[in-house]
Amino acid sequence: MSELNNIVLKILEKGKGILAADESTGTMTQRLDDVKVPSSPENRLSFRETLFSASSMTDCIGGVILYDETIKQETSKKIKIPELISSMGSAPGIKVDTGAKVLAGSPDEKITEGLDGLRERLKEYYKLGAKFTKWRGVYTITKNFPSKLSIQSNAHALARYSALVQECRMVPIVEPEVLMEGEHSAKECYEKTSEVIKKCFEELILHKVDLKGIILKPNMILAGNKSDNKITNEEVAKLTIKCLKNSVPSEVTGIAFLSGGQSEIEATENLNLINKYNDTDFIMSYSYGRALQQSALKFWSKNIEDIEGTQKVFNHRAKMNTLAAQSKWFKDLEV
Ligand code: 13P
Repeated sequence: MSELNNIVLKILEKGKGILAADESTGTMTQRLDDVKVPSSPENRLSFRETLFSASSMTDCIGGVILYDETIKQETSKKIKIPELISSMGSAPGIKVDTGAKVLAGSPDEKITEGLDGLRERLKEYYKLGAKFTKWRGVYTITKNFPSKLSIQSNAHALARYSALVQECRMVPIVEPEVLMEGEHSAKECYEKTSEVIKKCFEELILHKVDLKGIILKPNMILAGNKSDNKITNEEVAKLTIKCLKNSVPSEVTGIAFLSGGQSEIEATENLNLINKYNDTDFIMSYSYGRALQQSALKFWSKNIEDIEGTQKVFNHRAKMNTLAAQSKWFKDLEV
Protein backbone atom coordinates (compact mmCIF):
# COMPACT_ATOMS: atom_id res chain seq x y z
CA MET A 1 0.00 0.00 0.00
CA SER A 2 1.32 3.45 -0.84
CA GLU A 3 2.43 5.92 1.80
CA LEU A 4 -0.24 8.38 0.63
CA ASN A 5 -3.03 5.82 0.70
CA ASN A 6 -2.00 4.98 4.27
CA ILE A 7 -2.50 8.62 5.26
CA VAL A 8 -5.97 8.64 3.63
CA LEU A 9 -7.00 5.46 5.43
CA LYS A 10 -5.66 6.66 8.77
CA ILE A 11 -7.54 9.98 8.54
CA LEU A 12 -10.82 8.29 7.63
CA GLU A 13 -10.57 5.06 9.68
CA LYS A 14 -13.49 3.83 11.79
CA GLY A 15 -15.91 6.59 10.90
CA LYS A 16 -13.41 9.35 11.60
CA GLY A 17 -13.74 12.58 9.65
CA ILE A 18 -12.05 15.92 9.14
CA LEU A 19 -12.52 19.20 11.01
CA ALA A 20 -12.28 22.06 8.50
CA ALA A 21 -10.94 24.83 10.75
CA ASP A 22 -9.21 26.61 7.86
CA GLU A 23 -11.35 29.73 7.66
CA SER A 24 -9.23 32.56 6.32
CA THR A 25 -8.83 35.53 8.68
CA GLY A 26 -11.59 37.35 6.77
CA THR A 27 -14.06 34.46 7.07
CA MET A 28 -13.15 33.80 10.72
CA THR A 29 -13.70 37.48 11.47
CA GLN A 30 -17.23 37.21 10.03
CA ARG A 31 -17.91 34.09 12.15
CA LEU A 32 -16.64 35.85 15.30
CA ASP A 33 -18.54 39.07 14.45
CA ASP A 34 -21.72 36.96 14.26
CA VAL A 35 -21.24 35.89 17.90
CA LYS A 36 -19.88 39.29 18.99
CA VAL A 37 -16.34 38.24 19.88
CA PRO A 38 -13.50 40.53 18.67
CA SER A 39 -11.43 38.86 15.95
CA SER A 40 -7.90 39.07 17.37
CA PRO A 41 -5.16 36.48 16.66
CA GLU A 42 -5.46 35.47 20.35
CA ASN A 43 -9.22 34.88 20.18
CA ARG A 44 -8.96 33.00 16.88
CA LEU A 45 -6.31 30.78 18.47
CA SER A 46 -8.21 30.39 21.73
CA PHE A 47 -11.34 28.96 20.06
CA ARG A 48 -9.32 26.66 17.85
CA GLU A 49 -7.03 25.48 20.66
CA THR A 50 -10.15 24.63 22.68
CA LEU A 51 -11.39 22.37 19.88
CA PHE A 52 -8.00 20.84 19.10
CA SER A 53 -7.53 19.69 22.69
CA ALA A 54 -11.00 18.10 23.01
CA SER A 55 -11.26 14.34 23.54
CA SER A 56 -13.11 13.77 20.24
CA MET A 57 -9.85 14.69 18.49
CA THR A 58 -8.67 11.22 19.45
CA ASP A 59 -11.89 9.28 18.82
CA CYS A 60 -13.57 11.06 15.93
CA ILE A 61 -11.39 13.63 14.16
CA GLY A 62 -8.80 11.99 11.88
CA GLY A 63 -7.51 15.27 10.46
CA VAL A 64 -7.78 19.04 10.93
CA ILE A 65 -7.44 21.55 8.10
CA LEU A 66 -5.62 24.65 9.31
CA TYR A 67 -5.15 28.13 7.91
CA ASP A 68 -1.66 29.60 7.44
CA GLU A 69 -1.98 31.75 10.58
CA THR A 70 -2.94 28.79 12.81
CA ILE A 71 -0.32 26.29 11.62
CA LYS A 72 2.34 28.78 12.76
CA GLN A 73 0.78 29.52 16.17
CA GLU A 74 1.66 28.06 19.58
CA THR A 75 -0.66 27.21 22.47
CA SER A 76 -0.54 29.01 25.81
CA LYS A 77 1.76 26.17 26.94
CA LYS A 78 4.11 26.86 24.01
CA ILE A 79 3.14 23.74 22.06
CA LYS A 80 3.09 24.20 18.29
CA ILE A 81 -0.44 23.71 16.92
CA PRO A 82 0.50 20.86 14.50
CA GLU A 83 2.20 19.11 17.45
CA LEU A 84 -0.90 19.49 19.60
CA ILE A 85 -3.05 17.95 16.84
CA SER A 86 -0.61 15.03 16.30
CA SER A 87 -0.36 14.41 20.04
CA MET A 88 -4.16 13.96 20.13
CA GLY A 89 -3.84 11.25 17.46
CA SER A 90 -5.09 13.36 14.55
CA ALA A 91 -3.32 14.61 11.41
CA PRO A 92 -2.60 18.30 10.74
CA GLY A 93 -3.51 19.59 7.28
CA ILE A 94 -3.32 22.99 5.60
CA LYS A 95 -5.36 25.05 3.15
CA VAL A 96 -2.98 26.08 0.38
CA ASP A 97 -5.14 27.91 -2.13
CA THR A 98 -5.15 31.68 -1.90
CA GLY A 99 -8.84 32.12 -2.58
CA ALA A 100 -11.40 32.26 -5.38
CA LYS A 101 -10.95 35.31 -7.63
CA VAL A 102 -12.89 36.75 -10.58
CA LEU A 103 -12.46 34.50 -13.63
CA ALA A 104 -11.23 36.56 -16.57
CA GLY A 105 -13.43 35.69 -19.56
CA SER A 106 -16.46 34.94 -17.33
CA PRO A 107 -16.36 37.62 -14.63
CA ASP A 108 -19.47 36.40 -12.79
CA GLU A 109 -17.65 33.17 -11.97
CA LYS A 110 -14.59 32.35 -9.87
CA ILE A 111 -11.22 30.71 -10.40
CA THR A 112 -9.19 29.59 -7.40
CA GLU A 113 -5.64 30.93 -7.28
CA GLY A 114 -2.44 29.93 -5.48
CA LEU A 115 -0.30 27.92 -7.90
CA ASP A 116 2.56 30.43 -8.13
CA GLY A 117 5.26 29.51 -5.63
CA LEU A 118 3.18 26.59 -4.38
CA ARG A 119 6.03 24.04 -4.51
CA GLU A 120 8.08 26.16 -2.07
CA ARG A 121 5.14 26.82 0.26
CA LEU A 122 4.37 23.09 0.35
CA LYS A 123 7.91 22.30 1.48
CA GLU A 124 7.49 24.75 4.33
CA TYR A 125 4.14 23.27 5.42
CA TYR A 126 5.56 19.75 5.22
CA LYS A 127 8.34 20.80 7.57
CA LEU A 128 5.73 22.30 9.93
CA GLY A 129 4.12 18.83 10.13
CA ALA A 130 1.32 18.93 7.54
CA LYS A 131 0.25 15.52 6.23
CA PHE A 132 -2.42 16.74 3.85
CA THR A 133 -3.64 19.89 2.12
CA LYS A 134 -6.81 21.47 0.77
CA TRP A 135 -7.73 23.44 -2.37
CA ARG A 136 -11.30 24.51 -3.06
CA GLY A 137 -12.79 25.39 -6.41
CA VAL A 138 -16.28 26.98 -6.41
CA TYR A 139 -19.04 26.80 -8.98
CA THR A 140 -22.45 28.51 -9.04
CA ILE A 141 -25.48 27.11 -10.78
CA THR A 142 -27.59 29.49 -12.88
CA LYS A 143 -29.13 29.12 -16.34
CA ASN A 144 -25.72 29.55 -17.99
CA PHE A 145 -23.32 28.54 -15.23
CA PRO A 146 -21.10 26.84 -14.42
CA SER A 147 -19.58 27.62 -17.81
CA LYS A 148 -17.27 25.23 -19.64
CA LEU A 149 -14.52 27.75 -18.94
CA SER A 150 -15.00 27.62 -15.17
CA ILE A 151 -15.31 23.82 -15.15
CA GLN A 152 -12.18 23.42 -17.28
CA SER A 153 -9.99 26.01 -15.57
CA ASN A 154 -10.81 24.98 -12.00
CA ALA A 155 -10.26 21.30 -12.84
CA HIS A 156 -6.88 22.18 -14.35
CA ALA A 157 -5.85 24.14 -11.24
CA LEU A 158 -7.03 21.35 -8.89
CA ALA A 159 -4.97 18.83 -10.86
CA ARG A 160 -1.81 20.95 -10.96
CA TYR A 161 -2.17 21.55 -7.23
CA SER A 162 -2.70 17.83 -6.52
CA ALA A 163 0.36 16.78 -8.52
CA LEU A 164 2.55 19.27 -6.62
CA VAL A 165 1.17 18.15 -3.25
CA GLN A 166 1.81 14.47 -3.94
CA GLU A 167 5.32 15.32 -5.17
CA CYS A 168 5.84 16.72 -1.67
CA ARG A 169 4.46 13.49 -0.10
CA MET A 170 1.23 14.92 1.23
CA VAL A 171 -2.39 13.97 0.45
CA PRO A 172 -4.35 16.58 -1.53
CA ILE A 173 -7.98 17.16 -0.63
CA VAL A 174 -9.63 17.90 -3.97
CA GLU A 175 -12.64 20.11 -3.31
CA PRO A 176 -14.83 21.11 -6.25
CA GLU A 177 -17.77 22.75 -4.46
CA VAL A 178 -20.95 23.29 -6.44
CA LEU A 179 -22.65 25.89 -4.26
CA MET A 180 -26.07 25.45 -2.71
CA GLU A 181 -27.03 29.12 -3.28
CA GLY A 182 -29.67 29.55 -5.97
CA GLU A 183 -33.04 28.49 -7.30
CA HIS A 184 -31.85 25.35 -9.09
CA SER A 185 -33.42 21.93 -8.71
CA ALA A 186 -31.68 18.87 -7.27
CA LYS A 187 -31.65 17.45 -10.81
CA GLU A 188 -29.63 20.44 -12.01
CA CYS A 189 -27.28 20.06 -9.03
CA TYR A 190 -26.87 16.38 -9.94
CA GLU A 191 -26.07 17.16 -13.59
CA LYS A 192 -23.67 20.03 -12.90
CA THR A 193 -21.88 18.25 -10.05
CA SER A 194 -21.41 15.17 -12.25
CA GLU A 195 -19.94 17.29 -15.04
CA VAL A 196 -17.63 19.13 -12.64
CA ILE A 197 -16.34 15.97 -10.95
CA LYS A 198 -15.81 14.11 -14.23
CA LYS A 199 -13.72 16.98 -15.58
CA CYS A 200 -11.66 17.06 -12.37
CA PHE A 201 -10.77 13.39 -12.72
CA GLU A 202 -9.96 13.80 -16.41
CA GLU A 203 -7.40 16.44 -15.42
CA LEU A 204 -6.13 14.54 -12.35
CA ILE A 205 -5.42 11.52 -14.54
CA LEU A 206 -3.73 13.69 -17.18
CA HIS A 207 -1.47 15.12 -14.46
CA LYS A 208 -0.65 11.58 -13.26
CA VAL A 209 -2.08 12.05 -9.81
CA ASP A 210 -2.26 8.85 -7.73
CA LEU A 211 -6.01 8.57 -7.13
CA LYS A 212 -5.54 6.31 -4.11
CA GLY A 213 -3.61 9.15 -2.49
CA ILE A 214 -6.28 11.87 -2.65
CA ILE A 215 -9.41 12.68 -0.66
CA LEU A 216 -12.31 13.97 -2.76
CA LYS A 217 -14.36 16.61 -0.94
CA PRO A 218 -17.62 17.04 -2.84
CA ASN A 219 -20.95 18.68 -2.09
CA MET A 220 -24.02 16.55 -1.53
CA ILE A 221 -26.74 16.67 -4.19
CA LEU A 222 -29.27 19.20 -2.91
CA ALA A 223 -31.85 21.53 -4.39
CA GLY A 224 -30.74 25.19 -4.27
CA ASN A 225 -31.47 27.10 -1.06
CA LYS A 226 -34.00 29.27 -2.94
CA SER A 227 -35.65 26.39 -4.79
CA ASP A 228 -39.34 25.65 -4.24
CA ASN A 229 -38.75 21.99 -4.96
CA LYS A 230 -36.80 20.59 -2.03
CA ILE A 231 -36.18 16.84 -2.00
CA THR A 232 -36.21 14.44 0.95
CA ASN A 233 -33.07 13.41 2.83
CA GLU A 234 -33.48 9.89 1.42
CA GLU A 235 -33.44 11.35 -2.10
CA VAL A 236 -30.39 13.48 -1.27
CA ALA A 237 -28.53 10.37 -0.15
CA LYS A 238 -29.52 8.26 -3.15
CA LEU A 239 -28.76 10.97 -5.72
CA THR A 240 -25.41 11.75 -4.05
CA ILE A 241 -24.33 8.11 -4.21
CA LYS A 242 -25.53 7.78 -7.82
CA CYS A 243 -23.59 10.89 -8.82
CA LEU A 244 -20.35 9.70 -7.20
CA LYS A 245 -20.72 6.17 -8.52
CA ASN A 246 -20.99 7.50 -12.06
CA SER A 247 -18.28 10.14 -11.91
CA VAL A 248 -15.54 9.00 -9.50
CA PRO A 249 -13.02 6.34 -10.63
CA SER A 250 -13.02 3.23 -8.44
CA GLU A 251 -9.33 3.68 -7.47
CA VAL A 252 -10.38 6.54 -5.19
CA THR A 253 -10.70 5.34 -1.59
CA GLY A 254 -11.55 8.44 0.40
CA ILE A 255 -14.50 10.79 0.05
CA ALA A 256 -15.29 13.40 2.73
CA PHE A 257 -18.26 15.71 2.19
CA LEU A 258 -18.39 19.43 2.89
CA SER A 259 -21.46 20.71 4.75
CA GLY A 260 -21.87 23.79 2.54
CA GLY A 261 -24.42 25.68 4.62
CA GLN A 262 -26.58 22.74 5.73
CA SER A 263 -27.64 22.84 9.37
CA GLU A 264 -25.71 20.66 11.79
CA ILE A 265 -28.44 18.03 12.08
CA GLU A 266 -29.19 18.03 8.34
CA ALA A 267 -25.51 17.43 7.52
CA THR A 268 -25.39 14.56 10.02
CA GLU A 269 -28.66 13.00 8.90
CA ASN A 270 -27.72 13.13 5.22
CA LEU A 271 -24.31 11.60 5.92
CA ASN A 272 -25.97 8.81 7.88
CA LEU A 273 -28.34 8.01 5.01
CA ILE A 274 -25.52 8.15 2.47
CA ASN A 275 -23.72 5.50 4.48
CA LYS A 276 -26.89 3.48 4.90
CA TYR A 277 -27.30 3.24 1.12
CA ASN A 278 -23.62 3.24 0.18
CA ASP A 279 -23.14 0.26 -2.13
CA THR A 280 -19.71 1.35 -3.35
CA ASP A 281 -16.22 0.70 -1.98
CA PHE A 282 -15.66 4.41 -1.28
CA ILE A 283 -15.28 5.46 2.34
CA MET A 284 -17.85 8.27 2.71
CA SER A 285 -17.14 10.51 5.67
CA TYR A 286 -17.21 14.20 6.56
CA SER A 287 -14.96 17.24 6.29
CA TYR A 288 -17.20 19.79 7.93
CA GLY A 289 -16.53 23.38 8.88
CA ARG A 290 -19.75 25.08 9.93
CA ALA A 291 -21.64 21.83 10.67
CA LEU A 292 -18.99 20.86 13.26
CA GLN A 293 -18.28 24.24 14.81
CA GLN A 294 -21.47 26.31 14.83
CA SER A 295 -22.93 25.24 18.21
CA ALA A 296 -19.50 25.11 19.84
CA LEU A 297 -18.72 28.65 18.66
CA LYS A 298 -22.05 29.95 19.95
CA PHE A 299 -21.50 28.31 23.34
CA TRP A 300 -17.89 29.53 23.57
CA SER A 301 -18.85 33.12 22.69
CA LYS A 302 -21.00 33.33 25.85
CA ASN A 303 -17.98 32.59 28.06
CA ILE A 304 -14.66 32.09 26.33
CA GLU A 305 -13.16 30.80 29.59
CA ASP A 306 -15.47 27.77 29.61
CA ILE A 307 -13.17 25.36 27.79
CA GLU A 308 -14.77 22.21 29.16
CA GLY A 309 -18.31 23.27 28.27
CA THR A 310 -17.27 24.25 24.74
CA GLN A 311 -15.46 20.94 24.27
CA LYS A 312 -18.53 19.05 25.40
CA VAL A 313 -20.63 20.70 22.66
CA PHE A 314 -17.94 20.04 20.05
CA ASN A 315 -17.42 16.43 21.17
CA HIS A 316 -21.11 15.74 20.78
CA ARG A 317 -21.19 17.02 17.18
CA ALA A 318 -18.03 15.11 16.26
CA LYS A 319 -19.40 11.92 17.81
CA MET A 320 -22.73 12.28 15.94
CA ASN A 321 -20.94 12.68 12.63
CA THR A 322 -18.61 9.76 13.28
CA LEU A 323 -21.66 7.61 14.03
CA ALA A 324 -23.27 8.91 10.82
CA ALA A 325 -20.16 7.97 8.83
CA GLN A 326 -20.88 4.39 9.95
CA SER A 327 -24.69 4.72 9.50
CA LYS A 328 -25.14 4.29 13.25
CA TRP A 329 -26.72 7.68 13.98
CA PHE A 330 -30.36 8.19 14.92
CA LYS A 331 -32.31 11.29 15.91
CA ASP A 332 -32.90 10.37 19.57
CA LEU A 333 -29.16 10.64 20.18
CA GLU A 334 -29.43 14.40 19.67
CA VAL A 335 -31.46 15.21 22.77
P1 13P B 1 -18.33 23.80 5.34
O1 13P B 1 -18.49 22.39 5.88
O2 13P B 1 -18.73 24.87 6.32
O3 13P B 1 -18.93 23.95 3.98
O4 13P B 1 -16.77 24.04 5.19
C1 13P B 1 -16.04 23.07 4.59
C2 13P B 1 -14.93 23.66 3.84
O5 13P B 1 -13.79 23.37 4.09
C3 13P B 1 -15.25 24.60 2.76
O6 13P B 1 -14.13 24.82 1.99
